[in-house]
Amino acid sequence: MAQPRELWKSRIGLVLATAGNAVGLGNFLRFPVQCAENGGGAFMVPYFICLLLFGIPLMWVEWAMGRHGGRHGHGTTPGMFHRLWNNRISKYLGTFGILISFGVGVYYVYIMSWTLGYTFFSLNGTLMKISSPEEMGLFLSSYQGLKSSVFFDGIGTAYWFYLISLGLTIYVLSKGVVRGLERLAKYGMPILFLFSIVLIVRIFTLGTPDPAIPENSIATGLGFLWNPDFSSLSSPKVWLAAAGQVFFTLSVGFGAIQTYASYIKKNDDIALNGLTTASTNSFVEVILGGSIAIPIAVAFFGIAGTQAVAQGGAFNLGFQAMPMIFQKIPFGQVFGTVWFFLLFVAALTSAVAIVQPFMAFIQDEFQCSRKKATVFTGAALFIFCQPVIFFLGNGFLDEMDFWLGTFGVTVFAVVEIIVFIWLFGPNSAWKEITRGADIKVPRFFYYVLTYLTPVFLFVLLGTWLYQSGWDNILLKKASAENLPYVIGVRAMLVLMLLGLIIGVKHSFAHHRLKSRETSS
Ligand code: ALA
Repeated sequence: MAQPRELWKSRIGLVLATAGNAVGLGNFLRFPVQCAENGGGAFMVPYFICLLLFGIPLMWVEWAMGRHGGRHGHGTTPGMFHRLWNNRISKYLGTFGILISFGVGVYYVYIMSWTLGYTFFSLNGTLMKISSPEEMGLFLSSYQGLKSSVFFDGIGTAYWFYLISLGLTIYVLSKGVVRGLERLAKYGMPILFLFSIVLIVRIFTLGTPDPAIPENSIATGLGFLWNPDFSSLSSPKVWLAAAGQVFFTLSVGFGAIQTYASYIKKNDDIALNGLTTASTNSFVEVILGGSIAIPIAVAFFGIAGTQAVAQGGAFNLGFQAMPMIFQKIPFGQVFGTVWFFLLFVAALTSAVAIVQPFMAFIQDEFQCSRKKATVFTGAALFIFCQPVIFFLGNGFLDEMDFWLGTFGVTVFAVVEIIVFIWLFGPNSAWKEITRGADIKVPRFFYYVLTYLTPVFLFVLLGTWLYQSGWDNILLKKASAENLPYVIGVRAMLVLMLLGLIIGVKHSFAHHRLKSRETSS
């Protein structure tokens, strides 16, 4: 039996859940790496401009689209697009909003499981005994099943942590919006704040770890981040990195914000909620996230050393450099555990949010019970993650991330803006964003949304395609050895997309032609 659509129970629950949706590995792991790689303060200038020009506007667009769709019983973008733009193809364009969020969810849960594994290995003291950065690297790669070592022989341990992480994600989803997503956020977000503050206090009281090298200090690390460098404004590379970070960290362009927004009432505020989500996320990213990994890494390795670590790979700073540092500070074992558990909590509140659209699609569009939707979602997550786990070393995860997390989100953001602003109409869109608003949205943003954001996104997409995108798309960057796997990822994504298209076609033919307007 189909269950009626749930609504968030309290405003605080909603705010915490949507903040938890956005705040994730992007804030604590991805941000410091991007920031260090792109020059610290040089990165921050385009980052804030991107936030203003498309991050916050897209957040409003997605909230408005979500509330509008929810009113008609749709929690995902196929139904939402269909309501906004009465055209045969609109619902199929909307399938990308499920493909992207679900696809990212597939590998996100796996990365999250590493943070759980590392929490365990911090707690039991294993990470404290590893004596060199090289050994720490070997620990990570053998944990991931890429090599055999004295630490791990095969993927077994990582697989167990994956199953636990997947189980937890599915468990939360199975409980529904109020008892699952909202409750997780009510516990998870305070833990996340508390743990970040504990780490920051510890880090800020470290001072200069090696008095012989006074320039390597926490203050130097903070200065690296906070001294703006306007020269980066002419660097397309830094702009692209900043834009990519804004997309990832806010979860905009995924199709996931809409689903959370679909569980609010018809006249509830979205303007303040959207702004609160974006600002809480940026606060956690820049103020909290920015006060952990970068300052501590600079204090121990210097600016050049930190940049070298960041350039070594997306996970080197969080999974290799941080545990080495924790070995050197008093109660490092405790703080190391706090660090990885913090990452895990941040990841879990995001993982459930990016998988929820897939759940909602099954529940809303097939009138399926929550129980059945949970089983189906869990099975799909598990199956599609298998190649990610076993072909990690062949670039499977990277290729998925390229198509979904880089290319997909940018293109989908462009599509959303076109559908919501241009096809639904700028005035209708503006009314939808400002209806029931608890703040006065400056009229300036009407023009930003109508002209500036679309133009900015087009320029961004064009620059990115020219700079590196085409080469990836045309397989110029794949090694001969990885080629079959890269093609495998593409085949898998096409398969997923076809499945969704068939699902949308079937659902709209049989169940949802007459979508109902809810009274709430
Ligand atoms: N926005 C989520 C994160 O930052 C996906 O990790």
